[in-house]
Order: sequence, then structure tokens, then C-alpha cells
Amino acid sequence: MMEVLCSYDEEELKKKLKRKLDDKRYAHSIGVAYTAVSLVMRHGNIDKLEDGGAKLISQAYTAGLLHDCAKCLEDGERDKLCKNYKLDISDFEREYPYLIHAKLGAALSQKKYGVDDDEILSAIRYHTTGHSDMTLLEGIIFSADFIEPTRKPLMIMPIARQALFEDLNHGIYVILEQTLKHLKNKEQPVEEHTLEAYEWYKRYK
Ligand SMILES: [Fe+2]
Ligand SMILES: [Fe+2]
Repeated sequence: MMEVLCSYDEEELKKKLKRKLDDKRYAHSIGVAYTAVSLVMRHGNIDKLEDGGAKLISQAYTAGLLHDCAKCLEDGERDKLCKNYKLDISDFEREYPYLIHAKLGAALSQKKYGVDDDEILSAIRYHTTGHSDMTLLEGIIFSADFIEPTRKPLMIMPIARQALFEDLNHGIYVILEQTLKHLKNKEQPVEEHTLEAYEWYKRYK
């Protein structure tokens, strides 16, 4: 069994998530968890770590499983939870509420699933937008969310997948560039953290 860093064991956590997510989102979450673990094995310098990477692998697996835990809530339930947890919802998030699940997912992971590891919580918080100069775990969850195996095969997918296993920072740049292109096509504005991330990761072009 894989170790998960929350109040449940792996089996219990998966059972709970299965009840909260639709089938597609559940399969996606499993995909993100294993893709994140693979990226840790590739980029985590685990041979240099005293525990052989055990902690980093558990963090990646836990964050991957939980990252979308707030994705399948109904609007009313989502808004109620945001209020209960006194989350700051930006004007931008009010305009594009699909973004809220990242912030709320971090809060739920802490309060409902018992995650007390700030690195995991932050990786969940920023999995959708990214931000500048991400930690290894943040960058890996952000990336795994985009390339996990059940994702719709976009044109850019093979390039992004290969890039991320070759050079994580360059791979993150590839995703951000694609995200900005996609938003431009839809004539949608770019969220501030995503823009900051793009400006930062441009150096890895
Ligand atoms: Fe998400
Ligand atoms: Fe996701």
C-alpha cells in the first residue's frame, strides 16, 4: 500500500474520494497521483535523500489524489464551504469560479482529510494557476495535472509529456505557453498567478 499523509490510509482515502468525485475525475486523480510520483522519481534527486525519496513520493501521491477533491461540488455547497472556511475569493475567481476548487481543495484537504503538510497544501492550492518559482512538489503537481494519462490528447501533449520528463522547468514553460494560447483563443483573460508563472518560466523557454 502507498503511504498517504492524511488522517486516512490509502484505501480509506480513495473510498472517500470516489464518493466525492465523478468517475472521470476520480480516474484523473489517480492518474495525477502516479504521474506525480513518476516525476518525483525522475526529478527529485532521490538517490541523494536520506529516506530514498519516501517522503517526497508520499507527498506527491497524496497531493495528486486530493488535488481535485473540491472539483465536483455543486455551486451552493462550494460557496457555503468557502464562507465557512473564510476563504478570500478574488474578483477574478468570482468571474471564473472553476478556479475556486484549487483554494477550496487545499482547505478541505486540511480540515476534512487531515493533511497538515504545508507543502502538500500549497501544491493543491496552486495546481490550476501555477505561480512564479514553484517548489519541486508544486511544479510536479501542476505538471502532472496537465499530462496524466487519462487527459484529452491535445496536439501539444506528446511534446509536453516528453519535455516534462527531460527538463521539468522547460516542461512547465511549455504548459504555460499552451495555457496562454488557449485563453487567448477563447478571448479569456489570464489569472495573475498564471501570468506571473509565465513571466518566470520564460527563462526556461
Ligand atoms: Fe483541478
Ligand atoms: Fe486536476
